Amino acid sequence: MEDLARIDSPRELKPTEVEEFRQIIYQHYAEHRREMPWRVSRDPYHILVSEIMLQQTQVGRVLAKYELFISTFPDFDSVCKAPLQEILGVWQGLGYNRRAIALQKICRLLVTEYGGVLPSSAETLQMFPGIGPATAGAICAFAFNQPTVFIETNIRRVFIHFFFPNKKRVKDKEILPLVQQTLDTGSPRRWYHALMDYGAMLKNEEHNPNRRSAHYNRQAPFQGSNREIRGLILKTLLEKPELPEVELIRAVDKSPKRVRPIIAQLTKEGFLVRKGDLIRIST
Ligand code: ADE
Repeated sequence: MEDLARIDSPRELKPTEVEEFRQIIYQHYAEHRREMPWRVSRDPYHILVSEIMLQQTQVGRVLAKYELFISTFPDFDSVCKAPLQEILGVWQGLGYNRRAIALQKICRLLVTEYGGVLPSSAETLQMFPGIGPATAGAICAFAFNQPTVFIETNIRRVFIHFFFPNKKRVKDKEILPLVQQTLDTGSPRRWYHALMDYGAMLKNEEHNPNRRSAHYNRQAPFQGSNREIRGLILKTLLEKPELPEVELIRAVDKSPKRVRPIIAQLTKEGFLVRKGDLIRIST
């Protein structure tokens, strides 16, 4: 989390500005709220799974996978015990498979070190693999209804749109004090859902406000990317669990010069293991 004390003279909003802003956000929410299965759950496990899935993946694609994941792996314990291969099998289609490994590591740490209970402190949550400030903040708000201050992509869009209408390269550290001043501390869960829905709506506007974020990064096209090749390697090994490297490279059907280092990288990251010449997904 940003150290708010270090920010030089943050902008102070007037009480009427705060009031008007909240009213606009809640009015939109009353009329256009999006229903999502993880929003009606208070189970920290459900919130954790949904927030990891929602990192870098749009709501529509997460909706298609979330229920299957939860019914296949209903709790922390079931994720701990499942072979990674099974988890990746259900994860297929979400991309960024690193998150599935992180999720299993988190569940194993929770069960072995935290008595199977998800901590409710954003600071502690950030010590787990795959959990950064945005995910930690979202978990605290949605699972524990805590008034945490955080920014993710939808929230960033809302604040740039309302409070920095003409500014370019807006920094998150300029936005965070405004998130803090406008937070509805009486209902953080509802407030952040409403903010995210407003931000999702702004994405469809002609000028996406996040283009004016200093942290703006468009997701690179999937076709032809390393991400595509990583997905193809894992898909091949989910169908044929053990393959010699040459056959794996042949099955992926891309330039061996590109595939070989990606296999090495996946091995280093713990997705794959090599036994002699054979390669398989790690357990
Ligand atoms: N609802 C709960 N968490 C969300 C997220 N990260 N993005 C969009 N909607 C959400």
